[in-house]
Amino acid sequence: MIEAKNLTKFYGDYPAIENVSFTAEDGEVIGFLGPNGAGKTTTMRILTGFTPATSGTAVIAGYDIQSNSLEARGSIGYLPETVPLYTDMTVREYLKFMGSLKKMDGKKIQSRIGDVVDLCRLEEYADSMIGKLSKGYRQRVGIAQAILHEPPVLVLDEPTIGIDPRQVVETRQIIKSLGGDHTVILSTHILPEVSMICDRVLIIDQGQIVAMDKTENLSSKLGDVTQIIMNVQGPATEITRVIEQVSGVKNVSFTDAGGHNQFIIECDPAEDLRTELTRLTVEHGWGLEEIRTGGLSLEDIFLRLTTSEETEK
Ligand SMILES: Nc1ncnc2c1ncn2[C@@H]1O[C@H](COP(=O)(O)OP(=O)(O)OP(=O)(O)O)[C@@H](O)[C@H]1O
Ligand SMILES: [Mg+2]
Repeated sequence: MIEAKNLTKFYGDYPAIENVSFTAEDGEVIGFLGPNGAGKTTTMRILTGFTPATSGTAVIAGYDIQSNSLEARGSIGYLPETVPLYTDMTVREYLKFMGSLKKMDGKKIQSRIGDVVDLCRLEEYADSMIGKLSKGYRQRVGIAQAILHEPPVLVLDEPTIGIDPRQVVETRQIIKSLGGDHTVILSTHILPEVSMICDRVLIIDQGQIVAMDKTENLSSKLGDVTQIIMNVQGPATEITRVIEQVSGVKNVSFTDAGGHNQFIIECDPAEDLRTELTRLTVEHGWGLEEIRTGGLSLEDIFLRLTTSEETEK
């Protein structure tokens, strides 16, 4: 279990993250999303004890990262953004070395190396030099070292970055199989990956958490909204006000599309509001130039949540 409370990190005057709070339950796989520079790596480095927070607390498997930092760190397996692999060691030698750094006893290291090589499907390469492995296999070695000491909590910073589509499928399966036994938090820029392997999603933008929800809720939120795009001649503020009052309308945004008033209306897909909107336009004597429906993609909602002026909190 991970409990983060009001984690804040300043670099000089700059707040990389502010009041980040969330809980990841035992066995849960959490997807951590956010644009570049949003604060994912910073949060993960704090959780794993690599960077101290300026303020706030986190508890890892019952251990406070400040007052019980050794135990907290021992309860966590970390795949950093850049895995510090030793290229002149074989996979087995490297894992043995990492096991000794993690203060595991020799026998345990040997038996665990067998387990993690198996789990991360590294059999073929166990005695190959790491320097000769492809990026995808290096990532797997990174995951193997993270789980070597059987930590209950895993923090994986972009575990599938730069991996080809076929290897990505296998790597995702490996990560998914780790859920249940482990609490996993993984960062990614690949939205469908989150739907595939995560139970819940945490979205961070400009250092602040802007959404935290179950994947299916987030998807159904997306599915719950359709868009109607209307080009209408007339007073934009008045038109917006009238549209907003129509039952089933969730949000109206206005853009001036090359001299044409364009309204993007998010509404309940259960009812087709085009007839009602057309009627209102005619009733007010505004000029209806165009009306059509549009969809809201996964990317749309991510962009909406992570664009500051349109952030819904
Ligand atoms: N050591 C540091 N010194 C100063 N600023 C830093 C440092 N590390 C990170 N930052 C800043 O903190 C902010 C958050 O960075 P962070 O690496 O956590 O983002 P991220 O969400 O992991 O981004 P990405 O998706 O690109 O990996 C950025 O503005 C970054 O420039
Ligand atoms: Mg990062």
